[in-house]
Amino acid sequence: MEIEETNQDLQLAPLYETSSSSESKLRKLRTIYKTQPEENILEQLETYKNSTVLPRDFVNKLVQEFKFKPDKKFKNDQDDNVTNTNDQSAFFKFIEGRRFHNIEGVHYPFPNDDDECDRLHLQHFLNKHVWQNNFSSPIAHILKKSSTKVLDIGCGAGSWILEMSTTYQDAKFIGLDITPHQPSKIKPNNLSFVQANALEGLPFNDNEFDFIFQRLLFSGYPESKWPFVVDEMVRVLKPGGYLELTEADPSIKQTGPAGTRLFAGKGGADINACYKLQKYVTEQGNLENIKQEVKNMYHGKQNGRLGEVSIENTMCAMKNLKTQIMNIMQVSSKEYDEIIKIATEEIRELNSYYPMIRVYASKKFETK
Ligand SMILES: C[S@@+](CC[C@H](N)C(=O)[O-])C[C@H]1O[C@@H](n2cnc3c(N)ncnc32)[C@H](O)[C@@H]1O
Repeated sequence: MEIEETNQDLQLAPLYETSSSSESKLRKLRTIYKTQPEENILEQLETYKNSTVLPRDFVNKLVQEFKFKPDKKFKNDQDDNVTNTNDQSAFFKFIEGRRFHNIEGVHYPFPNDDDECDRLHLQHFLNKHVWQNNFSSPIAHILKKSSTKVLDIGCGAGSWILEMSTTYQDAKFIGLDITPHQPSKIKPNNLSFVQANALEGLPFNDNEFDFIFQRLLFSGYPESKWPFVVDEMVRVLKPGGYLELTEADPSIKQTGPAGTRLFAGKGGADINACYKLQKYVTEQGNLENIKQEVKNMYHGKQNGRLGEVSIENTMCAMKNLKTQIMNIMQVSSKEYDEIIKIATEEIRELNSYYPMIRVYASKKFETK
């Protein structure tokens, strides 16, 4: 398939329309190449990577999208009024039918498609049940004021912040995440979402927020970046405002041989981040009234409904991490599925659990 570079650009022009969804771009792409077998299209797209007319990122995105077969997981913008309402596909890449972030320098390994969003919502309610609250900081009174601003860093599917902004309708809430996988239409008016990479700093002014909440970012931040991110949180926190960090130790305790193998394969994540929260907060220097709380997330039949829901959450997380962990464990897809099956039975029988640690503190009025 020989196409002049200028013609390539013209032919692909409809694909530049930012208003159309990824699926409709794919439809146009297929129309352009309808006489070609799929392998030829992919081969041709590869050659576009060296084009001087088309931005390389754009072509990479097309290749990823073309490899991804649209199905019910990725619907038209018009169909989807709950999650992912805007087509902001530059934020995403697709691997084996799952949608991931596409942000350079961020190693966060989980997908962010509807299946993972459902899991995050489930996990939110598990967390709320285990802690018996949505936060531990003594801030309930300020959440009733209209001047109060709350930031949720790495807000995920928005589970926590959707609930908080619905409960406290006078305060203003901002959910920040590297990707826009939160609802953009169906949400309270006092809530907005911002896309930013916390590892590059927070896009807010000094002393802006009364409460900053962050939960379960251990797989997103390398160990070396934690002090920087905590510094940034303290910078944007008002004097007297509260910072609250909650992390889990994902290496499940009291499990059998399959579980031990499975939960050891965490890639580059600092699985001990939860044990260092107090150190980060103390060493930052501008926080006081530092408190720590510890809870266990139990699995298994001794724990009734909670145990079953935790198993569902944990095993769904391991399924969502399949591609990465399979590679780390050096096992085939079939072997991985078998390990998951055995590990599920182990954690059901052995009353397995993982610890969770929450640290909260207020910003000093006189800071260094
Ligand atoms: C495990 S989810 C937790 C979501 C939410 N905090 C909760 O508890 O339901 C982690 C979230 O952090 C986001 N994330 C990872 N690295 C990030 C970064 N560098 N900056 C901003 N968000 C990040 C991911 O996109 C994901 O939505």
